[in-house]
Amino acid sequence: MARRKKVYEGKAKILYEGPEPGTLVQYFKDDATAFNAQKKDIIDGKGVLNNRLSEFFMKGLMQIGVPTHFIKRLNMREQLIRSVEIIPLEVIVRNYAAGTMSQRLGIEEGTQLPRPIIEFCLKDDALGDPLVSEEHILAFGWAGQQDLDDMIALALRVNDFMSGCMLAVGIKLVDFKIEIGRVWEGDFQRLVIADEISPDSCRLWDMETGQRLDKDVFRRDLGDLADAYTEVARRLGVLPSNVTHTTKPTLIN
Ligand code: C5P
Repeated sequence: MARRKKVYEGKAKILYEGPEPGTLVQYFKDDATAFNAQKKDIIDGKGVLNNRLSEFFMKGLMQIGVPTHFIKRLNMREQLIRSVEIIPLEVIVRNYAAGTMSQRLGIEEGTQLPRPIIEFCLKDDALGDPLVSEEHILAFGWAGQQDLDDMIALALRVNDFMSGCMLAVGIKLVDFKIEIGRVWEGDFQRLVIADEISPDSCRLWDMETGQRLDKDVFRRDLGDLADAYTEVARRLGVLPSNVTHTTKPTLIN
């Protein structure tokens, strides 16, 4: 059988050529990295959980009319996606201060922000994904004004959707990062949510206890990352309630 062609390998995922033109297969690895890959580990089962959680969020977004690259989940670790032209910006939405915003501005972690705040970082590992302003984005042509307006609108819709999903299961959506891509339909382009939405790219705090249920567990050595992600999946109904990752995730079809 012919081997699939690898198109791209990132820190947590691999992209392979898809079965049809304009499609890709996105494979979720168990690799965890933090601080621009200075800290690395393999977390047994993380890829399986993120594949399923990203499917859950992307499908929910599409149900409320937010376009995404997601087509269908293929198996435990892979999903079929549309091939998109990734805009080279990380779009971060923050509801509460945490992480680099707290460090940069000296705001205590957990402080509620007056409104959701959107930040853009240039996707460039060599530079450590620096924060950039809208002026930089427009002047250097990473995106145009219409793209920027559309990206902000999409990011706020994702924030409302994700905040609601999490609130319903007792979790506070502190912040998250998304990536956005362009798809071409004839001469027209539209923007869609791409990459993944998972606890790797969100901050999720238990509303009662403040327990971290996201990648900060790994970044800050707060416990078992797969247990935290399993808890998020269990609360959202993506996993049955009696499963822990030590018994291996069992997925509901
Ligand atoms: O590190 P910082 O506080 O800027 O991160 C804000 C949010 O964006 C966090 O939820 C973090 O997980 C996410 N993020 C990400 N990938 C990056 C940088 C940040 O998923 N390269």
